[in-house]
Amino acid sequence: MARDEVFGNTAARGSDFQFNEEVANVFDDMLVRSVPFYLEQQSLIEEIARRFALSGSLVLDLGCSTGTTLIRLAGQLDPKIKLLGYDNSQPMLERAKTNAADLGLGDRIEFSYGDFNEGLDDLVIENASVVTICWTLQFVRPLRRDRLIRKIYEGMVDGGVLIVTDKVLTNDSNMNRFFIDFYYDFKRRNDYSNEEISKKREALENVLIPYRFDENFELFRRNGFSTVETFFQWYNFAGFLCVKNI
Ligand SMILES: C[S@@+](CC[C@H](N)C(=O)[O-])C[C@H]1O[C@@H](n2cnc3c(N)ncnc32)[C@H](O)[C@@H]1O
Repeated sequence: MARDEVFGNTAARGSDFQFNEEVANVFDDMLVRSVPFYLEQQSLIEEIARRFALSGSLVLDLGCSTGTTLIRLAGQLDPKIKLLGYDNSQPMLERAKTNAADLGLGDRIEFSYGDFNEGLDDLVIENASVVTICWTLQFVRPLRRDRLIRKIYEGMVDGGVLIVTDKVLTNDSNMNRFFIDFYYDFKRRNDYSNEEISKKREALENVLIPYRFDENFELFRRNGFSTVETFFQWYNFAGFLCVKNI
């Protein structure tokens, strides 16, 4: 796995974070070193997906990046379940296709271009029993989030599950600061320098927009999901499970 040195390489950055080729090349390392308990979350997602996925339905990963989630799910789910990943980064999609092909899963998983801001009308979301959107909703413009969640809800079968993981804020600014301090400690333990941490923070400032817990709950509920639970939390990193009830 190539090591993430994206913010160690360049003296000054000053531009918004992009999911470009440089990032795609090191993304798997970036995720495990930047998202607390990333691999444990993947195991939880597999467990939840096994419960909810229905034969003959679609399992969809929105913001599929290098394909990790769907590749793991392919080994767990009935082969009659179609697996489809969407992303708007071509370098990520190329990686995802190569990773799947290398494991002999090229025919099992489809990876396609999809833009959750401007291209919602072009996304096919229908007959889905499981939809995952991991560390990606935070990059969708707030004004577009309702339309996206509504579209997911409408494209799901009754009893289907939407699994969301995202950075979150609390209502208390002191608590937000503590959580971020603890998060930077986590990154230092994973060998990121203070300079790398602060450059990445600046690069993400305009593009990663977290919601508070209550804003997320309201977003999912007002767009149809009647059961919304938190299934994971580590400080300001959270996982939500939203069920489309019959
Ligand atoms: C943090 S990564 C997701 C990680 C991945 N879900 C995982 O858990 O391994 C966010 C992904 O969302 C994609 N993305 C960001 N904004 C997007 C948009 N508006 N439409 C589609 N994809 C988007 C990025 O290209 C990137 O691959």
